[in-house]
Amino acid sequence: MLSNIKDLATKLAPRLIEIRRHLHSHPELSGQEYQTAAFVAGVLSSSGLQVQEGVGKTGVIGELQGIGESNRILAIRTDMDALPIQERTGLDFASRASGIMHACGHDVHTTVGLGTAMILSQLAEELPGKVRFLFQPAEEIAQGASWMVKDGAMSDVTAILGVHVFPSIPGGSVGLRYGALTAAADDLEIIIIGESGHGARPHEAVDAIWIASQVITTLQQAISRTQNPLRPVVLSIGQINGGRAPNVIADKVELKGTVRSLHPETRANLPAWIETIVANVCNSYGAKYEVNYRQGVPSVQNDYMLTQLLQSAAEEAWGCERVQVLPEPSLGAEDFSVYLDYAPGSMFRLGVGFKERPTNYPLHHPQFEVDENAIITGVVTMAYAASKFWNTNAS
Ligand code: NI
Repeated sequence: MLSNIKDLATKLAPRLIEIRRHLHSHPELSGQEYQTAAFVAGVLSSSGLQVQEGVGKTGVIGELQGIGESNRILAIRTDMDALPIQERTGLDFASRASGIMHACGHDVHTTVGLGTAMILSQLAEELPGKVRFLFQPAEEIAQGASWMVKDGAMSDVTAILGVHVFPSIPGGSVGLRYGALTAAADDLEIIIIGESGHGARPHEAVDAIWIASQVITTLQQAISRTQNPLRPVVLSIGQINGGRAPNVIADKVELKGTVRSLHPETRANLPAWIETIVANVCNSYGAKYEVNYRQGVPSVQNDYMLTQLLQSAAEEAWGCERVQVLPEPSLGAEDFSVYLDYAPGSMFRLGVGFKERPTNYPLHHPQFEVDENAIITGVVTMAYAASKFWNTNAS
């Protein structure tokens, strides 16, 4: 099966690069992936998959029925949306949409999904069960996975695989991680209400700006003293608004931030922990407060057996020297985690860094580029893992 997959992938390579460049030139923002979805649906239909459009608003599902009788369904998820960034790569196939760019590699992900579907459709008689390809919209706003799930994308799914490009791994290599891959990302809003007064008479007022600064400082110090250092928490206040004039004491300050964590139990305790600190500081100085904590996407926790499946597929396909087990998770977020509430899964990192370049631009950078050789690496790894799925006990 592996040699068949590799042969088919080699034949398909020029077409896949063409597809990726087409997608790259025509990026669409989260929730507006209309042309991308139509394009994806077209490729899937012409490969003989059963296609459903408009799943999760602008998402697409393609199903490939193998000839076997297994009722274990494997889902393969790729995302399709781009970012509000003005591209500055200078490539021939750079974005033609002003202010929109595939700067997170979702054009590569979509291509890997399509390439895997094209290859497996030619090997359907060797598949014991069904593969369901999820082409998800709106990952960048952390909404698309929930939309897909709401429309039934995960019904009867046994396991799910995903992929994300990674510029700090060289093109052609694969990165795996057992357990936590990305962080839970929650939104935090704190409102501090003091009492206005003359800047020259602070004792007659309750200075919301000064109290806000105490809240921020106390939160940052308290993380280091009260959170388990082996269970990371990152709290970043990215926005602060308050005050009306230089000589008027502010009566209201709004703080907005993001809270990242890896462990579900740590995460569950964070809202109460934050509220206690805010309350203690505000009570000490006579301010009122409001804390609004909104849970965003959970941490991606890669399943052990499915990560092993990906690792053995990648190692058999490319040799151990091109496969690395990543020592660290990322505190970035990825809504692939939303699917993992419904079935176990694993997401691998696809190296897209240029070996010959001393530095590769990071994800979300206007000059972000990918080594396109990675597309074949991604497609073969995914297709081979899929073909082996029914032979494993994974889930
Ligand atoms: Ni991304």
